[in-house]
Amino acid sequence: MFRTALIAFFIGLCLPLAVPAQEREFGLSSPEFLEETGFLNFLLPRFSLKTGIRVGRQANRGEVVFSTQSGEPIMEGLEEVFYVRFEGGGSERQRHAQRFVDWLFSDVGQRTIEQFSIEGEQVFTTIEPKQSAEPELVFEGDPARGEAFSFANCGRCHVIGQNNRMNGIGSTPSFSLLRGLPDWHERFSTFYVRIPHPSMTQVEDITAPFSPSRPPANHPLRLTQDQLEDILSFVNTLQPADLGAPLIIHQ
Ligand code: HEC
Repeated sequence: MFRTALIAFFIGLCLPLAVPAQEREFGLSSPEFLEETGFLNFLLPRFSLKTGIRVGRQANRGEVVFSTQSGEPIMEGLEEVFYVRFEGGGSERQRHAQRFVDWLFSDVGQRTIEQFSIEGEQVFTTIEPKQSAEPELVFEGDPARGEAFSFANCGRCHVIGQNNRMNGIGSTPSFSLLRGLPDWHERFSTFYVRIPHPSMTQVEDITAPFSPSRPPANHPLRLTQDQLEDILSFVNTLQPADLGAPLIIHQ
């Protein structure tokens, strides 16, 4: 009687179906040669200890896959680049898997990966996650004020829009042309340090006063940081000129 119970107990242990539904677990697949380094034996307990989530090792059906082919690059070493990617899976397991991937890319996870060593030698270097898309630009100035200021002060050299179409100086790029450059925001934010402006431009609290020995040109251009914000907000509203040809402008 007792023996039967014992056998049943052991069979229960072996049957995956016997894993209670609420078990916090997901599966991980990885190339065999990575397994063989002992890396996972090093990594996974550290994750499980923190989170109480068990990571099952699955030859090829894990919710998370370490691979040398596709996914988010995570680390390099052993003359390979390793990637992590998600595969399908039940929602509960998927949630635990997500937690694992987040952990891998966190500072702690990255440090853990780099701590793994064989005979005292670090094996993997983590790969910086890709910069997320361009940072959102925020415009807090007033475009209408920026427009008026630009016509009055920049318009004597630059074509700003239809109103001063004939006034710009031929060799000076129009605002809509500059607006078409991928780094237009950077160029306008710093125009006062870009040739030819420094000799005539002063931005309140940013630039040093004109030196007495080198007086500014006839029409010094003075503006505040708020006015610069207004200009940026205005330029942001301009339709970029698309000339189809690469532009060469003084850096
Ligand atoms: C005296 C004439 C003059 C005035 C006034 C002037 N600019 Fe310019 N600006 C130029 C010239 C010339 C260039 C082209 C420089 C080059 O190609 O190297 C230029 C280039 C620029 C560029 C591109 C710079 C770069 O390095 O990519 C920006 C941005 C710019 N101006 C903004 C302004 C703004 C904003 C104002 C007004 C607040 C203004 N400029 C007033 C003559 C002027």
